[in-house]
Amino acid sequence: MPVITEIEDLKRIYRRRVPKMFYDYCESGSWSEQTFRENSSDFDKLYLRQRVAVDMAGRSTKTQMIGQDVSMPVALAPVGLTGMQHYDGEIKAARAAGDFGVPYCLSTMSICSIEDVAENSDKPFWMQVYTLKDDDFMQRLFDRAKDAKCSAAVITVDLQLLGQRHKDLKNGLSAPPKLTPQSVANMMTKVQWGLGMLQTKRRFFGNIVGHAQGVEDASSLSSWTAEAFDQSLNWDRIREFRKMWDGPLIIKGIMDPRDALEACNVGADAIIVSNHGGRQLDGALSSIRALERIMDTVGDKIEVHLDSGVRSGQDVLKATAMGAKGVWIGRAYVYGLGAMGQEGVTKALEVMHKELDMSMALTGHTDIKNVDRDILMIPKDFSDNWK
Ligand code: GLV
Repeated sequence: MPVITEIEDLKRIYRRRVPKMFYDYCESGSWSEQTFRENSSDFDKLYLRQRVAVDMAGRSTKTQMIGQDVSMPVALAPVGLTGMQHYDGEIKAARAAGDFGVPYCLSTMSICSIEDVAENSDKPFWMQVYTLKDDDFMQRLFDRAKDAKCSAAVITVDLQLLGQRHKDLKNGLSAPPKLTPQSVANMMTKVQWGLGMLQTKRRFFGNIVGHAQGVEDASSLSSWTAEAFDQSLNWDRIREFRKMWDGPLIIKGIMDPRDALEACNVGADAIIVSNHGGRQLDGALSSIRALERIMDTVGDKIEVHLDSGVRSGQDVLKATAMGAKGVWIGRAYVYGLGAMGQEGVTKALEVMHKELDMSMALTGHTDIKNVDRDILMIPKDFSDNWK
């Protein structure tokens, strides 16, 4: 086994081990992928201020997200089809996150169902909810999350329709994978992945199959989102969802200060500044560039988190310094999962934690809760202040 010191190491192994269809699903953005790329490259435009001769002993990255204790301000983001990246992937990721002391958020589009994850992991997890037309399905999803003792719900508001990802259409992405000469030939080269998949029965969208009405082809992400998702979503409807869930609520997919204010009015506990990892509106600003103006608009009213483009502890530090109280990672842990299962997710978290802890120290801080914009050098035209 090669020495793993950074997230890129996990990505290299992941690419070798997982069928192309699922690697491509993870590693793509919509259309030209401009936003997908800039989500990460914009982090490099923020500089950190080095400080010296400051006592660095006794450091802590412990803090809270929506009032819950976390070992660092990082959460595992909801990622569709995680159980296709590695068998029982959602259960493995939930266990790794629980052991590490960070939240795991299960996607509506998961392979393992809410009940499966609850039965097979011992810490409460968070549940992500898509906004579907079917009210009964929505109420049941919230009720199932409550029965599973989920400690927060995350409503994703930026996917009324699915952004077009060319590779998924070309690969015929589905769960379970459709057997074509190309997909079979590729899967035959992924022996460990295939042996894992043979060990499990969890190969369908576990929260959907048998639960959602009127979905003709529940194996294809693009067809069931087109059939079931609510294109007429509005803030009144989101207020109705708020009534269906009486626990902590997070609204994910905010990129504009006006929408951030709407989310505050709905009674959410936090928002996530997110462009869905560059998978929805291509040409949108990166999340890290959108963050500052949203912080300035609602930072004193609501807890603000960020996702999209985060691949290192330094990225986590920069987003935290900008004011994010929680930084969500998706691809970075999926690389670990596809590379080495639960152990790989733990490895990804260890890598990020070490980078965060050491970089924080080198900026002259020992407590993540005290990190602020003072450690950053922000280029003048960096933030969202365009007309
Ligand atoms: C689903 O959330 C996706 O981005 O594919």
